[in-house]
Formats: sequence, C-alpha cells, structure tokens
Amino acid sequence: MRRLSLALGDRSYPILIGCGLLNQTELLLPFLRAPKVALISNTTVAPLYLERMLNGLNQHGVAVTPIVLPDGEAHKTWESLNLIYDALLATRCDRSTTIVALGGGVIGDLAGFAAATYQRGVPFVQIPTTLLSQVDSSVGGKTGINHPRGKNMVGAFWQPKLVLADTDTLKTLPDRELSAGMAEVIKYGLIRDLPFLGWLEANMDGLMARDGELLAHAIERSCVNKAEVVAADEFETAREGGRALLNLGHTFGHAIETGMGYGEWLHGEAVAAGTMMATELSRRLGWLSAADVDRVRLLFQRAGLAVIAPDLGAGRYLELMSHDKKVIAGSLRLVLLKALGDAATVSDVSPAEIVAAIESCCHA
Ligand code: NAD
Ligand code: GLY
Repeated sequence: MRRLSLALGDRSYPILIGCGLLNQTELLLPFLRAPKVALISNTTVAPLYLERMLNGLNQHGVAVTPIVLPDGEAHKTWESLNLIYDALLATRCDRSTTIVALGGGVIGDLAGFAAATYQRGVPFVQIPTTLLSQVDSSVGGKTGINHPRGKNMVGAFWQPKLVLADTDTLKTLPDRELSAGMAEVIKYGLIRDLPFLGWLEANMDGLMARDGELLAHAIERSCVNKAEVVAADEFETAREGGRALLNLGHTFGHAIETGMGYGEWLHGEAVAAGTMMATELSRRLGWLSAADVDRVRLLFQRAGLAVIAPDLGAGRYLELMSHDKKVIAGSLRLVLLKALGDAATVSDVSPAEIVAAIESCCHA
C-alpha cells in the first residue's frame, strides 16, 4: 500500500492507494467519530462493491445506512442531495455519523457536499472507484452540485478525514471512463511535472492496458502533485497560479459539459478537448511551439480521448465561460501553458485570440 498525506495542519489526512483495500474496512475505524456510517453510492457501483464494504464494516461493529443514488452527471443535483438528507434524517444520523462516498467523482462531490452541510458538518471519508476520482476529485475537499446554468456552481470546501483508493476497482471501469480519468492524470504533467509527462509518454500503452503497477504509480504521482498544490492554496485564493492551475482546460471544458448537456461529454473528455484549446491559445501567444501542441494532442489520442471539441459556436463558448468561478470582477482568468510543465493564470488575453483558439479546435 502506498501512503501519502495532504498537509493541512490539524486537518491533514492520509491518502491510501493499493489493491484490495475495500477488503480492509478496518482502515476506516480510526477515522470514525462513532461506529455509525452513511455509505453513499449509486446504482452502478453499489451492486459491485457496496455489500462487501457494508459486511466488512458490520463485522467491525459499525452500523451502516446505505444510500444508493441514481447514476450520472445529470443527477449531481439538489434532488439527489435531498435524497441523501432524507435518508440521513430517516435513519437518525447525527453529528457523530461519518458520511462515506463509494463511487466516482459525482458521488464524491455529492456526498462531500452533504457531509459539509448536514447538521452543519459531519465527518467524511472518500472511497473513489474511478481513475478520475482516485487522481483528482477525492483529494482536496471541493464538493458540490451542478446548476443548469453552470457546472459545480453550488458547493463547499469540506476536506475528508481519509481517502482510500482501491486500484482493484479500476478493473470494472469501462474503457471510456478510464480514458476520461487519464485526462486529469496528463494534466499534472502539463501544469507542473514535466518528468511525469515524459513518463506518461513512455508508459501510456501499458496504462491503457491497465497494468496495475503503472496505474498505481500514475495515481500516486497525481495525488502527490494534487496534495502539494492544495496544501499551498487550499481555498484557491492565490492571486496568481496556486490551486487554480489544477483547472487547466476546465474553463473551456465546463463550457462543453454545460453546453452539450450534463453527461453527454464526460468531465475528463471535456477537459481533454478544453486543454487542447488552452494549449492552442498558448501557442498563439508564443509560449508553446507547434511541436509542443502536437505532443499534447498525441498523448490525449493515445489515451483514447477526442481532441476535436464540439462546435457550440465561439459566442456560446464565451457566454458559458463567463460564468466560470475563476472570473474575478468580470475578468476571465484562464490557465495557460508558458511551457510544457509550467502553467500560469492569465487574465489579459484578447477575446479575438480566445475565439481563434476555440474555432481552430472545433474542426479537424
Ligand atoms: P462518475 O462519478 O460519473 O463515474 C463515471 C461512471 O463510472 C459512472 O457511471 C459510475 O457509476 C461508474 N463507475 C464508478 N466506479 C466504477 C467502477 N469501479 N466500475 C464500474 N463503473 C464505475 O465520473 P468521474 O469521472 O468519476 O467524476 C466526474 C465528476 O467529478 C464530475 O462531476 C466532476 O465535476 C467532478 N470532479 C470533481 C473534482 C473535485 O475536486 N471535487 C475534480 C475533478 C472532477
Ligand atoms: N479539480 C480542481 C481542484 O481540485 O481544485
């Protein structure tokens, strides 16, 4: 088992990565305030893994309230949140109950927001079961739901007490979801870890063939990067750089997700296409070469990701992007690449350049 830590003073927490961890429910025990857990999952993940977790916890004397939500990004809503609150209240969960998320990023974000808000906050544990959630969403404490007008527009920062990533769960993950998660893995190489980018180029075929050791290394390296960034700027308040850099490609990508309708383009797919836009814009500003852009495109393609974005129209992209949470006083801040492995937040890019980059990425 690989063990990392996110350093946040007395709110620091471990990130455990390894195979077979779902069979080791005793790992959760030191992090429970009382022997009562609300285990939140969805209709896809619950049949695969919920009973095993529930039995394991019961054997350790932990009472479990299972809460199974409908699956999908389209259900990251108030309605699902209310289903959680209803179940917590019906089973008399109190402030000593720990909410445990068992699933991908949608379940993690929903369960985390429920934990942040139920009775003004209860302990929370993340058990991520997708590549994307193991390398990104389970770590760092961002929780929330979507609004029809924008992705993740309602939410809270609420750090888990523990992240437990069982790499065996990736064996049941559909190929399309593996690719989507790889977009966020590649992101760390692009924004701050050039050696990791080279390692990904050398090992992408093995990763896509689901080599367990390679995947564990990619997850560990991703979590190390994420933990360092979050520890330095937990609430994304740095004036420049900081946690916002984790959103490379996301301003464009969120526009794709919202514009296409939640769930049409997977989050990671939209991030990959959005990263191509950010990369192309960085080239237009003179920071990247055409060869750099080709290198990024090829890596996404080898990860099974589309590199051509949907043609929503540049005007619609700009309108959707104007709702981005990185907008400050009406000014759009984009994450761009000064070089491969070196990202920066930039707020003075002309709309004409942004439009040109968008348009060139919507066509082959
Ligand atoms: P997801 O949660 O929708 O999971 C993808 C699909 O895989 C779902 O159908 C799910 O039921 C299924 N699944 C999950 N685990 C499985 C397994 N082991 N075997 C088989 N099927 C499995 O999507 P995701 O890509 O995990 O997460 C995307 C979400 O995460 C988005 O809502 C995005 O906004 C959010 N996100 C949050 C953060 C953050 O910091 N909080 C960061 C990145 C992304
Ligand atoms: N996924 C972006 C962040 O956690 O800040």
